[in-house]
Amino acid sequence: MLKRSGAAEPRTATGSNVAAGIHSLDHFAFDVPDLDEAARFYSDFGLEVRRVEERLELYTWGNPHCWARITTGPAKKLRYLSFGAYERDMPEFERRVGEAGTERCAPLADGGGIWFLSPDGLPLQIKACAKSSPDRKTEFSATTSPPGKAGAIRRAEAPVAKPRRLAHIAVFTTSISTAIEFYGQVLGLRLSDRSRDIIAFMHGVHGSDHHLIALISSGHAGLHHSSWDMPTFHDVGLASQHMIEKGHAVGWGLGRHLLGANYFYYVRDPWKSFAEYSADIDYVPAGEEWPASDHEPDDAFSFWGPPPPDQFAHNFEPAPGSE
Ligand SMILES: [Fe+2]
Repeated sequence: MLKRSGAAEPRTATGSNVAAGIHSLDHFAFDVPDLDEAARFYSDFGLEVRRVEERLELYTWGNPHCWARITTGPAKKLRYLSFGAYERDMPEFERRVGEAGTERCAPLADGGGIWFLSPDGLPLQIKACAKSSPDRKTEFSATTSPPGKAGAIRRAEAPVAKPRRLAHIAVFTTSISTAIEFYGQVLGLRLSDRSRDIIAFMHGVHGSDHHLIALISSGHAGLHHSSWDMPTFHDVGLASQHMIEKGHAVGWGLGRHLLGANYFYYVRDPWKSFAEYSADIDYVPAGEEWPASDHEPDDAFSFWGPPPPDQFAHNFEPAPGSE
C-alpha cells in the first residue's frame, strides 16, 4: 500500500531542499504492428527516425538524445516509460520502491536503474542519467514582420517545421487519484493541475514544464499521446498543414490549452493515438511551488480551439487479457 499523502518527504543525499524526484522523462517505448508505417508517420511529423537492429528510434534533428523506441507487436501498445534521475538520489528511489511494495519487473531496456510496475501494470524505469528536460522555460518567439517587410514567404519556400525535443507523455490510467499518489510518492513528481477524476498533470521538482506526464482516465493503461516542443506558434500551424498534406488528416487544433497554456495541434497516428505539436507551455522552476488546482471539466482541455475529434480520449490499446 502507498503511504498516505502529506507524509514528510525525504531530502536528497546532498541535503538540497528539493525532495528527491526524477528530473526527466528520458524516453518512452511502444509497439506497433508495422514499423514501416511508424517510420513514415514520425518522419512526416518532423522527427529523425533511425533503424537500430529490430526497432526504430526517434530523435529530434541535431540532438543525440533518443526520445522513443518503437518495436513490433500485434497491436499498438505502450511498453514502458523511462525516467531520468540524479545518481545521488538512486538509493532514495530504491528505498521508496521497496517501501511502496511495488512489484518489480525485468528490465526492458539497457541503462540499468530500477525497473518496477505502476499500479496499472505499466513497466517503469528510473535510471541515473543526464537531465534531458529543460532547466528554464523554453524559448518561444513570435513571428512578426517589421514595418515595410512582408511577413510571409511563398508556400513552396516554407521550411518543414521540426520539433526541438520531447515535451511530455500522456498515458491512460485506471485511477487518477491512485496514479497521482504513486507518481508523487515513488517518483517525486508534483501535481500541477487536475480535473476531477478525468485528467491530471504532473511536473518534476528540478525545473520542469507544467507537465512531463499527463494521466487520463481509462479502463486500462495505454499511450494517449506524445508531445513535442515547437519554437513558435507559426511552426505549430506550419507543421499541422504539412501533416494534413501528407495524408494524416485527423487532428485537433490549432488551439491553446488551459492547463499548461501551451498552443497545440494533435495529429492522429495510424493506430488512433496522437502526436502533439506544443509551444510555449508553462514552466515550473526548480524549488518553486505550483498552485495545483482541481478544475471544472469545461476548463480541462482548451482555452480556445475547435472541438476535438470523435473518440479523442478513447483508449484503443487492447485491454489486458484481450490480446
Ligand atoms: Fe499534451
